Amino acid sequence: MTLHDTGIPRRSEAELADLREEVFRLKRELHAVIVSHNYQGAEVQRIADFVGDSLELALACARLKSETIVFCGVDFMAETAAILNPEATVLLSAAGASCPMAVMIDDNSLNEWRASYPHAAVVSYVNSTAAVKALSDICCTSANAVAVVESLPHDEILFVPDRNLGHYVSTKTSKRMILYPGCCSIHDRLTAEEVMQARRQYPEARVLVHPECRPEVIELADAALSTSQMLRDAGESSAQTFLIGTEEGLLHQLRLQNPEKSFHLLSASLVCVDMKKTNLESVIETMKQKSNRTTVPEEIALKAKKALDRMLALG
Ligand code: 13P
Ligand code: SF4
Repeated sequence: MTLHDTGIPRRSEAELADLREEVFRLKRELHAVIVSHNYQGAEVQRIADFVGDSLELALACARLKSETIVFCGVDFMAETAAILNPEATVLLSAAGASCPMAVMIDDNSLNEWRASYPHAAVVSYVNSTAAVKALSDICCTSANAVAVVESLPHDEILFVPDRNLGHYVSTKTSKRMILYPGCCSIHDRLTAEEVMQARRQYPEARVLVHPECRPEVIELADAALSTSQMLRDAGESSAQTFLIGTEEGLLHQLRLQNPEKSFHLLSASLVCVDMKKTNLESVIETMKQKSNRTTVPEEIALKAKKALDRMLALG
C-alpha cells in the first residue's frame, strides 16, 4: 500500500483553495474547531486549528470551549474527545475511519483475561474502545506509556491492546508486564531488514521509530517516540537526515518544521488507510450534514473518563 493507492484525489491548487474556503465558511457557521492527528494528509493538516499526537489532541479537546469539534483522525480519538468534553458535539471527519487495533480486545475478553490476574492493574493504550477504557485503571498513549506504568503502585500490569508498545515499556520498567497480543498492522509490518537496508543507504541518518513497531525494529533505532516527540527530536537533533518508522502523514510536519533537513520513510507501506479516509471533501460533508457524530453512553463515558483523567493528571 502506498499513499497513491488510498483514494486521496489529486486536485489543482485552485480547487484546493475553493475547498478550503468552504471548510472555513462551515467552520464559522458551526462555531467549530478542527483538530487533526499528525497522520492526516497535508491538505487536512493545513485546515486544522490543532495538529498533534494522541496525547496532545486529548488535552486540547478536554480544554476546548467550542460548540463543535471536528476530529480529523480515527474513531477512538473522536471517542476520547467526546468523553473528555461532553459539552461539545464531536464529529468524526470521515465515515468508517476506524483503528483496527482498537477493536482487537473488547470488554468481555478483557474481563475474562483480568480474572486470571487479580492483583494486576489494567493499563489501556488510548487506541482502544470506550468500553475497554471503562474497565481500565488508567489509560496511556505512546508519549507517556512508561511514565503511566511507573506511576502505579502495582507490580503486575495487564497491558492492552498493543503488544509492541507493551513490550517497549517492559524494557524500561522492572514491573511484570503481561501483554495482550494486539498490534497495529501498519507499524508491525516494518521489518528489521528494511531498517538495516535503509541504514546502509543513509549511514549518517538518525532513525526514529514509533513504539508500535516490533521489538527487533525498535532495537535497531536511535529512539522510539510518539509522533509529536519525533517532531521535537527532529527539531533539536544536530542530525541532517532522518529515517522515519511511522505513518507517512508525519512527514508533512517534519518537513514543514525542518525545511533544511531531509526525511525518508523506512518503508513505503507505512500508510494507514483509515487515517487517509479523511480529505477536504469528507470534512465539508461532515460539517454540512453534521454527520458521524461520536457519542458514548454516559455510564461507560463516566468510567472511561476516570481512566483518562488519571493519565492526564500525570501531566
Ligand atoms: P501518537 O499518539 O504517537 O500520535 O500515535 C497514535 C497512533 O495511532 C499510532 O499509530
Ligand atoms: Fe490504528 Fe495503526 Fe492506524 Fe494508528 S496507524 S490509527 S494504530 S491502524
